[in-house]
Amino acid sequence: MKPFIVVCDGMDKKVFETLQAVGEFDVHPEPKNSQDTIKELLPKAHALVIRSATTITPETLEQAPNLKLVIRAGEGTDNIDKKACEAKGVKVANTPGANNNSAAEHAIALMMTVLRKTAAADATMKNGGWDKSKYTGVELSNKKVGIVGFGRIGQIVAKRLQGFEPEVLFFDPFVEKSELPYAKKAADLKEIFSTCDVITLHTPLMEKTKGMVNSELLNSMQSHAVIVNASRGGIVDEEALLQVLKDKKVRAAGFDVFATEPLQENSELRKLDNLVLTPHLGASTEEAQLRVGEMAVSQLKEFFLNDNLLNEVKA
Ligand code: 3PG
Repeated sequence: MKPFIVVCDGMDKKVFETLQAVGEFDVHPEPKNSQDTIKELLPKAHALVIRSATTITPETLEQAPNLKLVIRAGEGTDNIDKKACEAKGVKVANTPGANNNSAAEHAIALMMTVLRKTAAADATMKNGGWDKSKYTGVELSNKKVGIVGFGRIGQIVAKRLQGFEPEVLFFDPFVEKSELPYAKKAADLKEIFSTCDVITLHTPLMEKTKGMVNSELLNSMQSHAVIVNASRGGIVDEEALLQVLKDKKVRAAGFDVFATEPLQENSELRKLDNLVLTPHLGASTEEAQLRVGEMAVSQLKEFFLNDNLLNEVKA
């Protein structure tokens, strides 16, 4: 019997056309209501391809008795209950590296937007304004940039930033020494938060990193410093972030990811003029989506045609 593959979260249909060689497939274009729209397809699904908008819970698995494989077309698998998958014999894989360049570029875009206030300036221009003096910014060049999490994405950020001639300090418990000569390891997170001008987060969401960027760290930042987060929302205490931004204890922030996504419509974070917000756009580029889609397609082919699982993620 040919497998039935459900592609969720608004992925590009064209990329999946060669799946016809593997089995039947259904692509859901709209990421917003993916969770609901896939419900009716779960009973016959053999594989799901998801981004971050779809959560795989024990309930999802109950409704999908034929499911054999979940592919996270991206990096983070915190939206998949991997233990529940393992218990049901459902394999999990992701597409490592495929969207990392886009995520790194988005973090840098957030830095520039925050430092030069371009988003706010654009909004006032659209309303007929010309508030030149209100939007005086600061340069990124020659600043001390602290990178929290020095895996693939953190390192791409360090490399891409070189044109700005920054001082680069990183912290990552799994990286002893940087292979990049210009990146120095900090003693701990405290050193990053208390000494850097620009802080960027690049760690996955795990038990250990949940709430890791807490009130104490945020309050230890210098008042001119900025923080950007294009990794995972849950690693930052959002109440504490709200407070330091409201009290102007730090200059500004740029956030692409949130503890709950989509961010609640009435969230206080939406009201701050020193916080730039984007809706989890880090991997949303044509190039990244082509790469993750192509990688997912080859993984599906290997799995269903050759009984071979690539890039498995264990519980
Ligand atoms: C990831 O973990 O791969 C990124 O956060 C991108 O998530 P997305 O595919 O849902 O945009």
